[in-house]
Amino acid sequence: MADVEVLPDAAVLIDGERIAWVGPRSEAPKDASIRRQEISGVLFPGFIDCHTHGVFGAPRLDDQERRALGVDYKAIAAAGGGILQSVRDVRERSEADLESLTRSRLETLVAHGATTIEVKSGYGLELEAELKQLRVIRRLSEQLPVTLIPTFLGAHEVPPEYRNKRADYVRLICEEMVPAVAREKLARACDVFCEPGVFTVAETRQILTAAQGFGWAVKLHADELEGSGGAELAVELGALSADHLAAVSDPGIRALGASNTVAVLLPATMIFLGKRSQAPARRLIDAGAAVALATDFNPGTSPTVSLPLVMALGVSQLGLRHAEAVTAVTINAAAALGLAGDRGQIAAGYVADLVGVAVDDWREVAYWMGRGVVSAVWTAGSACPTSAAPIS
Ligand code: NIG
Ligand code: FE
Repeated sequence: MADVEVLPDAAVLIDGERIAWVGPRSEAPKDASIRRQEISGVLFPGFIDCHTHGVFGAPRLDDQERRALGVDYKAIAAAGGGILQSVRDVRERSEADLESLTRSRLETLVAHGATTIEVKSGYGLELEAELKQLRVIRRLSEQLPVTLIPTFLGAHEVPPEYRNKRADYVRLICEEMVPAVAREKLARACDVFCEPGVFTVAETRQILTAAQGFGWAVKLHADELEGSGGAELAVELGALSADHLAAVSDPGIRALGASNTVAVLLPATMIFLGKRSQAPARRLIDAGAAVALATDFNPGTSPTVSLPLVMALGVSQLGLRHAEAVTAVTINAAAALGLAGDRGQIAAGYVADLVGVAVDDWREVAYWMGRGVVSAVWTAGSACPTSAAPIS
């Protein structure tokens, strides 16, 4: 992960939507028909945000203040706040309203350098409201110049109407919701919040196995606040990723290290929740795990839209080296979405998603905590209109 190649005075040749060549500028093809654009600063592969809950209504300001006064995330959730507050909100909102809120939020993620964004449902927890979120993601993926990867997260929480019959909710997900989402081809991956007090390991296995029956990839919110064997289950199921992992066990670390399941770490979440601990990034890397970073963009635990900020937190809170933070939002984040053959590198044949960063030293991308350092974004070979003024 620490092995990134940095080319000074480089050129990138783009042909259509893909990168055709990259190398020293002095060796670049000189064909007169090639249109040239000179840029200063540092060019990175487009950043990949492999974990967001980007479709939601209002921010959860009261939860934030309650936490500041000492009430913890799970206590707020148990009292009907937390995820269930966002669920009430999303159920009531029109699809058009959700779409316009989500559009402007995703545009902000892109302005901070995200060119591929995974977006989960999970604030509906009933078929129609889950479909509403996934349809918003589909429509925006047709409208915005960015790749959106939809994930079905019907198992984000047990909805209030199923509190006393949770087995029925798990069955509803497996037998009605997953098949309905598959019929409309609105998602290709399924996620579950596997956590004591939310979904157990056994329930998570049942849901994700049902999803695999439809040919879907699977991922897990695993061992976020309390360990319960989520990482081990992710490896057992061949999941694309196990996400959060602040409370992962030693056997969980070993299992991830010996697998292709990507460990997606979300340092902004622990910071925003006021937690003093973070996932054991160094131990995961030493064990051989592929570590990725993501924003976890959501109204309850991580309202940040900035992958460069998350990279800075990766360095300061997780103990990553600068190069590891870059790998974590490019190649490894692509792998967490099953896209590593196509995205996350500036290399011939890869999709021409690129980010210009207005700094002198590439390491500064993970340094200026919270300052907008991204100055230009290209997706599939075209300058992205949602980005800030291009650098010249
Ligand atoms: O990744 N942990 C579960 N899901 C989100 C939080 C969602 C919310 O609080 O609205 C997370 O942190
Ligand atoms: Fe999450």
